[in-house]
Amino acid sequence: PNVAIREARAMIQDAQRIVVLTGAGMSAESGVPTFRDAQTGLWEKYSPEELATPEAMYNRPDLVWSWMLHQARVMRSVEPHDGHRMLGSWQRELVDGGGALNIVTQNIDDLHERGGSDVLAHLHGTTFTFRCFECQAPSDYRLEDPTDEQLQATPTLDQLKLEEPPACGVCSHGFIRPNIVMFGELLPQHAMDDALEAVREADVAIVVGTSNIVQPAATLPIAASAAGALVIEINPHMTPLSQDADLYIPGTAGTILPELYP
Ligand code: NAD
Ligand code: APR
Repeated sequence: PNVAIREARAMIQDAQRIVVLTGAGMSAESGVPTFRDAQTGLWEKYSPEELATPEAMYNRPDLVWSWMLHQARVMRSVEPHDGHRMLGSWQRELVDGGGALNIVTQNIDDLHERGGSDVLAHLHGTTFTFRCFECQAPSDYRLEDPTDEQLQATPTLDQLKLEEPPACGVCSHGFIRPNIVMFGELLPQHAMDDALEAVREADVAIVVGTSNIVQPAATLPIAASAAGALVIEINPHMTPLSQDADLYIPGTAGTILPELYP
């Protein structure tokens, strides 16, 4: 990787406008299980398409709520890593110099923010704010800090202690859900618009920790390249993007990003 690191550093040293596209792999070294490359115990019995869908939530509110609550508790219990902190510092420096570092993430955790970055777009929403599943009214429900036994090693769904989702305080017959994008749901339109604008004006796009499978997020690196940006991919495994990227660096977010710090 040191040859690739040198090449990446050459590609970014004069760049003023950077876009960083991150997926679940960006959170992996903090302790948040990714989905597709490390099947955690949670998935052994249900596929995400069966579980993280509006239909599943409507039919089994206790199961889907408990699963999402467990995920949110894990995300609340972990810390940002050196890769998050590098992006936070680099963003401040570029902005102070009149440039930009726009972060577009598919992740629903808040690790980028806690690592010191502003995030331009959470394409799949965020798990720490909630709304009513029925009337869509924003909920003031807030996740408490999880207890150790709630954070026990990822339980299988059967071991998950099922909790009913809290009732909506507005329409009284609905229950609440996190503001994440489920399979089959649309992405927040402004998020995708902001992301497309950022990739079009970028000198360099750095794609970290995404399998580049899920749409429409996977079109963003291609749009960046089509608009003239250099595309650097950081991922321990190759993805459908790797052969089209200007540079593929085999490695992890937490180790590679700090080595790119200008
Ligand atoms: P998911 O619930 O996140 O599914 C949303 C994804 O499915 C989005 O990428 C969306 O664009 C896409 N999608 C929506 N409709 C679709 C369709 N018709 N066909 C194909 N894709 C469609 O996926 P999941 O794997 O079930 O993950 C469950 C939850 O776990 C999600 O909220 C996910 O964001 C979250 N998660 C977060 C992290 C993290 O934040 N670090 C890591 C892993 C999983
Ligand atoms: N550093 C960088 N990349 C990593 C690391 C790491 N430490 N660990 C794993 N990866 C890579 C894997 O090789 C894989 O390519 O991160 C990627 C994780 O892929 P997915 O689990 O599919 O996550 P993502 O691409 O974000 O999924 C897309 O679907 O499941 C949902 O919430 C997910 O909304 C997201 C969407």
